[in-house]
Amino acid sequence: MTWSQAKVLIVSDELSNSAANALTKQLVSVSAETEEVTYQQLLRDENYLTDSYSHFIAILPQTSNQKQETLPVEQMIQRLKTIATAPKNSCIAYVQFGGGYFGSGSQVMNPETCCAAGFARSVHLERSDMRVRVLDMDPEIPPDYIAELAIAELSGTEAIATVGYNDKKERLVPQNRLQQPVNYNKRALSWSEEDVILVTGGAKGITAECALELGKHTNAKMALVGRSQSDNQEVARTLERFKAEKLTCRYYSCDLTNPDEVTQLVETVTTELDKITGVVHGAGMNKPRRVEQVSLEEAIAEVSPKLIGASNLLQALASKPPKLFIAFSSIIGVTGMPGNAWYAFANESLVLRRFEREHQETQVLSLAYSV
Ligand SMILES: NC(=O)c1ccc[n+]([C@@H]2O[C@H](COP(=O)([O-])OP(=O)(O)OC[C@H]3O[C@@H](n4cnc5c(N)ncnc54)[C@H](OP(=O)(O)O)[C@@H]3O)[C@@H](O)[C@H]2O)c1
Repeated sequence: MTWSQAKVLIVSDELSNSAANALTKQLVSVSAETEEVTYQQLLRDENYLTDSYSHFIAILPQTSNQKQETLPVEQMIQRLKTIATAPKNSCIAYVQFGGGYFGSGSQVMNPETCCAAGFARSVHLERSDMRVRVLDMDPEIPPDYIAELAIAELSGTEAIATVGYNDKKERLVPQNRLQQPVNYNKRALSWSEEDVILVTGGAKGITAECALELGKHTNAKMALVGRSQSDNQEVARTLERFKAEKLTCRYYSCDLTNPDEVTQLVETVTTELDKITGVVHGAGMNKPRRVEQVSLEEAIAEVSPKLIGASNLLQALASKPPKLFIAFSSIIGVTGMPGNAWYAFANESLVLRRFEREHQETQVLSLAYSV
């Protein structure tokens, strides 16, 4: 299809968005038909998602107004979701602002500005009929140049392209490297029975196994957290295993998505065991479904234990920061997986670097692993 046959819908937070306006100008100059709408307009009127458009371009915010650790999860989901269910044979593109490095460069980026890659790769794996693009721009690149680059990237015939442009306007294509844990540098942190390590999701599944090994290696007092009550069979079995190792371990029932419960949790653990010096955030939710089967509310529910849970914990710990805060992310947040678009989004957005910048006594790690 040539641009003169194309009909392009451009979506952004405000109609005055400079990248959207520049795109319209340049698309009109190549004879494409264009229309600009806001995310709110698109949410109100589903007729926009009809097959009369050939291209759908969603522009993420260039900066974030968020001062706190809280992510505006609902708006982030809405922006990605609005164009993800576009009609057959169309092209969808997300223009985001992660510095050209998808948020992983030396600048600490807010995930609100760069959270589309894992999600879009999942959508691509579900929709072979569609062309998918994620263009990650440095926020300093002028709008006219963003428009030029976007038009060039959208013109390609590849089924998927995830491409970054940094502040030197170099074109970057992310490459995954296999890591060998044996090569990791040991952290200069010491642990003893004086320490208290809070492990969310730590009474069940993979995280329970990690918590038990961590307890055996460090002798630290362990505080395991989940929504289940302590008489839950799996929780009770895990507690028995800690007891058999003669480790101090208590279980706390708490919904991590509720900020008041998390504040109370931190207070109770501190009173009963002592100051929390380490955190492993393993709680999460994964409900595999194709993207068109998931409502906004269901997407929020799926990502919240991981994302809102992390932000509630970081806020509750801000006045008493631990030595180490590790969060379990997943390889799916990097590669995407069919049926896992929102899980991929949650894992890609689980970024803790801002807390480390503001609390230099805390080391952070978001660990994306596979099994
Ligand atoms: N399984 C894999 O292959 C894999 C691969 C890569 C990464 N990961 C990551 O590793 C972690 C553990 O995976 P898993 O498969 O063992 O998970 P899982 O069996 O699904 O366990 C999830 C845990 O999170 C807790 N949880 C969920 N919502 C919560 C909430 N609102 N408040 C408090 N706790 C909550 C659950 O406790 P309750 O049921 O008591 O609420 C449960 O202990 C997850 O973060 C996952 O994303 C897993």
